[in-house]
Amino acid sequence: MPELTLRQQCDETIAAIRQRTRHTPAIGLILGSGLSPLADAIENADIIPYGELPHWPVSTVAGHSGRLVVGELENQTVLVMQGRAHFYEGYSMAQVTFPVRVMGCMGIDTLLVTNAAGGLNAGFHAGDIMRITDHINLVGMTGLNPLLGPNDEAFGPRFPDLHRAYDPALGALAHEAAAAAGMTLREGVYVYVSGPFFETPAEVRMLRALGADAVGMSTVPEVTVARHMKVRVLGLSAITNVSIDASDAEIAPSHEEVIEAGRVIVPKMTAVVRGVLRAL
Ligand code: HPA
Repeated sequence: MPELTLRQQCDETIAAIRQRTRHTPAIGLILGSGLSPLADAIENADIIPYGELPHWPVSTVAGHSGRLVVGELENQTVLVMQGRAHFYEGYSMAQVTFPVRVMGCMGIDTLLVTNAAGGLNAGFHAGDIMRITDHINLVGMTGLNPLLGPNDEAFGPRFPDLHRAYDPALGALAHEAAAAAGMTLREGVYVYVSGPFFETPAEVRMLRALGADAVGMSTVPEVTVARHMKVRVLGLSAITNVSIDASDAEIAPSHEEVIEAGRVIVPKMTAVVRGVLRAL
């Protein structure tokens, strides 16, 4: 059988989703490490395990539930990814970003992306939420990004513009939502690294020198594909740990710490996401 094009794969996946839900979502939401409980608030939810969708990458990481939840939140119809696949799991960039292609093809025009991240900015603390204002694609600039290869002009242009990749108007709504919930939202630049190792102290100092405020192992490939398709994006990082920049430090980052901090941040993240959805 000839290989399916990306468009044909998307069509098959969309057909499978439509067999499982009558909702027609306009907003996508990707929940990162430890943030899956945010989807518990979805009303009239149709739940589809990733493994039951053709072509959909299944996350193997603890803290990622691996289900699509389609339903309503704050009177908006949303498609929520409870967990995501990462490049470090062995998936290609095309596979990692396939769900975002599907969202774009379904007519979703707004994407809220969340992640867990290490805080590089000396003013950040574990438990903070940072609105992503811009990113550095350390992996992608050197040749590993989802837009490599033949370009389908029906998806987007060969040379997409990533200036203002993170929508300023959505960002303003996030700040308002946080303020209404009595919180201050940090903001800054997210640098994407492949992982799965946490950074060495020397790498932490390098990433800071590059101008990054937070570091993580996801989000940027997804945002790249979303912007290729002109989907507008809000990016929120849960700062789960403070990056350690000295070799003689007594502490070290761990995935358990990331998941535990995520749990603490869920109510805050939920307040911001709900506030943004309410204002849309
Ligand atoms: N580094 C990279 N990714 C992360 C971190 C970190 O310190 N914390 C959560 N995700």
